[in-house]
Amino acid sequence: MLVSAEEMLKKAKAGHYAVGQFNINNLEWTKSILLTAQEMKSPVILGVSEGAGKYMCGFKTVAAMVSAMVDSLGITVPVALHLDHGTYEGAKACIEAGFSSIMFDGSSLPIEENVEKTKELVATCKEKGLSLEAEVGSIGGEEDGVIGAGECADPDECERVANLGVTMLAAGIGNIHGAYPDNWAGLSFETLDAIQQKTGDMPLVLHGGTGIPDDMIKKAIDLGVSKINVNTECQWAFQKATREYILAGKDLEGKGFDPRKLLAPGAEAIKDTVREKIKLFGSDGKA
Ligand code: 13P
Repeated sequence: MLVSAEEMLKKAKAGHYAVGQFNINNLEWTKSILLTAQEMKSPVILGVSEGAGKYMCGFKTVAAMVSAMVDSLGITVPVALHLDHGTYEGAKACIEAGFSSIMFDGSSLPIEENVEKTKELVATCKEKGLSLEAEVGSIGGEEDGVIGAGECADPDECERVANLGVTMLAAGIGNIHGAYPDNWAGLSFETLDAIQQKTGDMPLVLHGGTGIPDDMIKKAIDLGVSKINVNTECQWAFQKATREYILAGKDLEGKGFDPRKLLAPGAEAIKDTVREKIKLFGSDGKA
């Protein structure tokens, strides 16, 4: 069964660790992440961007696949299926399709409109028992066509949105989707600290988990981050392992062309990445 992310994130905030959100792209991705979370006895959040949802034939297909897989694989750790950077329309579609958690990203809208739409979705999600993530300030870089300038969030606006009753809050603190440039200034812990002081118990979300040095991740968790999103790093791991398999000519040996063989090294590499992140975030053994 899919669960709301509320309880797992409340526990994470109180226990000073973070739950990983790993984005999914297909069946292999989903299977690798679920099996690793189960092996590590860790709660997990599966993130689905609108682009990935479309690629996987729509949100209904995704919800059906993930629910059935949790059941068929005998997964007993808490699993939330979460819309990542949703539009208002996408949020409504995922609520309808059976997602257990929603992100409404109104960060590109004027703050009044972000507040209004978030407020409306808080009411719907509460009624249906779903968790809701809101965003203030934007995450830099590009993810599936969602482009952000990467400005740091205003702690007063964070307090205002947190008070609407959302489950978790994503706030820009100099984080970027995808690779960090060589001249990246690092996370703004000053901003994070100010946000945490204004938002109290609210679990904070760190997007752009790929490429953030371990010590910064640990400090962010100390300052109230309870959910960390990782996408690109799993894609790189999959790509690298698949490339090695083909360059080594393994697809040409025997039945090495069989998709179950061809995709296996990539699927294993995703497991290794997820295992590493779960350990770093400290959510192993917390399910
Ligand atoms: P990365 O692709 O940088 O890991 O970011 C993932 C993310 O924040 C998903 O919302």
